[in-house]
Amino acid sequence: MSIEPLTEELDYTADVARATEAIYARVKDVIPEIEWPVHAPYVAAINELKANLNAIILAHNYQTPEIFHGVADLSGDSLALAKQAAETEADVIVLCGVHFMAETAKLLSPEKTVLIPDLEAGCSLAESITGEDVRLLRERYPGVPVVTYVNTSAEVKAESDICCTSANATEVVESLGSDRVIFLPDEYLGLHVASQTDVEVILWQGHCEVHERFTADELRTFRGQHPGIQILAHPECPPEVLAEADYVGSTSGMINYVGSERPDRVVLITECSMSDNVAVEYPELDFVKPCNLCPHMKQITLPKVLWSMRTLQHEVRIDPEVAARGRRAVARMLEVGRGKQQ
Ligand code: 13P
Ligand code: SF4
Repeated sequence: MSIEPLTEELDYTADVARATEAIYARVKDVIPEIEWPVHAPYVAAINELKANLNAIILAHNYQTPEIFHGVADLSGDSLALAKQAAETEADVIVLCGVHFMAETAKLLSPEKTVLIPDLEAGCSLAESITGEDVRLLRERYPGVPVVTYVNTSAEVKAESDICCTSANATEVVESLGSDRVIFLPDEYLGLHVASQTDVEVILWQGHCEVHERFTADELRTFRGQHPGIQILAHPECPPEVLAEADYVGSTSGMINYVGSERPDRVVLITECSMSDNVAVEYPELDFVKPCNLCPHMKQITLPKVLWSMRTLQHEVRIDPEVAARGRRAVARMLEVGRGKQQ
């Protein structure tokens, strides 16, 4: 693979400054002025190339602000990205997120070119389980349905009855009408679901390397240091951490909570960049910002996005037979949501 485009430096010309002026005005509180001339040429080049390719950029809430606010057409949590991928009319989808998200987009848009700018953008949860593990679990628990968190490979999805995200996990588990389910692979999300339902949940011991680092002590310290602070936590955190939170929800759930409750001071117990992205929308609120970075999400950078669009790499490809079964599990999840909207 050529790395030339990743080292290419583009100039911050007067035209680039003009083309990106409005974007910088939005992100000025979270991106220092001295950094903008580094990002802006890529922002301008990517936005120009998008139209030529009929491409759309989907960005997860954990992407850095220059990607999230600078070049993304649509953004959101895993569920929103999956839905947007299914609905887009673009020919090319550039997924600024991690590999499982790009695979999910490809499952739902098999006829489109789906690009991930860096193949190293993985996920500790996706790596914690294989398709063979799921087959062995099915042998051990015959007839028990398998619910798989969307943070998994297409191969694991293909062995599952239905997928879920952190936004709909309990609803999906209950939709099956079974008194027992196998829930894979996030143990902490599974424990959170178990706390919300009477369905018995059989767990796997996968963890998110970012969220498992938060501690209950840390949250108590935030409360002690910042009286009145609202603590919002992602359900991938350990149970003792969630017990200290005022709200538990997906990344978009947290964003919606901030928008509707407008707490004067808030801390988001999740990946680092999200607070910056949300602070852009709510400059009047005080965000306390602990910083646990997802090293996988951070593999995606503006130079790599530009390179990906210029070279149409790395294209996500999934074995058609695996894709057909994986698609069924994701589509079944989307049907659960649709049922609720009607
Ligand atoms: P969300 O679906 O809540 O955005 O979570 C995805 C993820 O990877 C969290 O670590
Ligand atoms: Fe995976 Fe955790 Fe990174 Fe999300 S934050 S992509 S769950 S490693």
